[in-house]
Amino acid sequence: MEQLRTVQELRAWSDAQRRADRRVALVPTMGALHAGHLSLVAEAQRHADAVVVSIFVNPTQFAPHEDLTSYPRPLESDLDQCRAAGVDAVFVPAPGELYPEGAQTFVEVAELAKPLCGASRPHFFRGVATVVTKLLIAARPHVAVFGAKDFQQLQVVRRLARDLLLDVEIIGAPIVRDADGLALSSRNAYLDAATRREALALARALDAAEAALTAGEDHAAVLLEIAGKEIARAPSARLDYAELRDPETLATRERVAGPALLALAVSFPAAAAAGRAAPAKVRLIDNRVLRPPGAPVAPGTDSQQRGTPR
Ligand code: PAF
Repeated sequence: MEQLRTVQELRAWSDAQRRADRRVALVPTMGALHAGHLSLVAEAQRHADAVVVSIFVNPTQFAPHEDLTSYPRPLESDLDQCRAAGVDAVFVPAPGELYPEGAQTFVEVAELAKPLCGASRPHFFRGVATVVTKLLIAARPHVAVFGAKDFQQLQVVRRLARDLLLDVEIIGAPIVRDADGLALSSRNAYLDAATRREALALARALDAAEAALTAGEDHAAVLLEIAGKEIARAPSARLDYAELRDPETLATRERVAGPALLALAVSFPAAAAAGRAAPAKVRLIDNRVLRPPGAPVAPGTDSQQRGTPR
């Protein structure tokens, strides 16, 4: 596995793959890799001959009060996992590589970035869109893979690739869950055992809303109330949002008349971590694309991991 540290090395590696007629896939990450990231790598390997994983904790997607400094950075374990997964190259840049001295150019996806996570984290998608654009320009991949847990991020990236005429296919990979249903996230590491049990409320809320839909209830207000009640049963959970939105445009939906994204964000107190800084709270997100009972699922449009043990 090659370790690339500069944009120049990344470009040279990608150009060499292209000259050898190999399709290139990029998997952008912020490190602290877990099975969810490895599923993105596996998806990338299905679509390409050479996979590069970028590991970069992107400062511009964190607000000053957020967890940039405490964000986990277990680089050696990340590299071991990439090696074991058969990754061809990792790109681990210093911040100055992606943000040269005096950088002042940003990418904004105007409308898709506003609701959901954009409402409480107004800086977030500007930072994500900017760094992903830089990575796509530098790596020149044929495909890039993003997880559907960050559903809004996936749609923002799809939009920017289309709008900026980038010659890349954006692939969404289904959410990976632990056996008990908790969606995998690097931030789960901040939860102690009791809070982690409470965090199962997100998956239960999605299940409860989906069960109500199957039983014939398709009004957003009722489904969101059902989901909200599940979250409220977790004593330390603070609901940031529970919303029903169009999966493509992210416009609000009053009913589940076609595919509809049920998206949740919930905060929990973070465990005081021994030996490392931890943020005061952990904000977890989860989602499910709901469909009217009996509606077919078009391939690639589901946000769930196929065959995930529950
Ligand atoms: O999803 C993430 O890990 C990050 O937002 C991304 C896409 C790597 C950009 O920093």
